Amino acid sequence: MVPGGFSYQEKEIHKIESISNMSLTLEEKFEKMKEIRDELLQFNESPLYKYRLENKFFPVAGEGSHTAQIMFVGEAPGKNEAETGRPFCGRSGKVLDEMLESISLNRSDVYITNIVKDRPPENRDPTGEEIALYAPFLERQIEIIQPKVIATLGRFSMSYIMTHFGLKKDLKAITSMHGKEFIAKTEHGPVVIMPLYHPAVALYNGTNKKTLMEDFQNLKKYV
Ligand code: URA
Repeated sequence: MVPGGFSYQEKEIHKIESISNMSLTLEEKFEKMKEIRDELLQFNESPLYKYRLENKFFPVAGEGSHTAQIMFVGEAPGKNEAETGRPFCGRSGKVLDEMLESISLNRSDVYITNIVKDRPPENRDPTGEEIALYAPFLERQIEIIQPKVIATLGRFSMSYIMTHFGLKKDLKAITSMHGKEFIAKTEHGPVVIMPLYHPAVALYNGTNKKTLMEDFQNLKKYV
């Protein structure tokens, strides 16, 4: 017997059971992701729901591998994304694709999503209320995928993810945080949080693009 009243063998079994409880089968991951999509379609408590219906937009849940090691979290869908239901499929998405390619990845190797799952009007920034309303969907996605790395794209997702995982004390301007690694404790174990610039900053500025590409190199070791 060991302290706690269990034999060594019982302790080992308990450990294995709790590990397998934490990792879902592919079918379970798929089902849970589907539940999120279905809930988002009906999410009429959101102030963005009416705007979505009026414009025949879609909610944008996320896309990619359910077993991804790296999860990218952007801010909110733009027009292209809301029209297609796919994250980062416009001009920022092209930059993201280019960055992924620079580390020999493509979209199907990673998971790409946003904090806010519906398009805010006129591409305005998401409000605090919208972030709080949609964040539980993101938290469920993180627990389904159980990534090793969460790479935040832009200051809103950086600020939300750092705060959510108890790292608020480390928050500074994105100019001094990008490309750095922070370790968060999650229900499924430690996760690296890596803040990155939003790909949109690279659209008109070659220096920002170079910085983003250099930061992506820091992700390579997790591939
Ligand atoms: N910008 C984002 O933050 N997310 C998208 O999906 C597209 C543009």
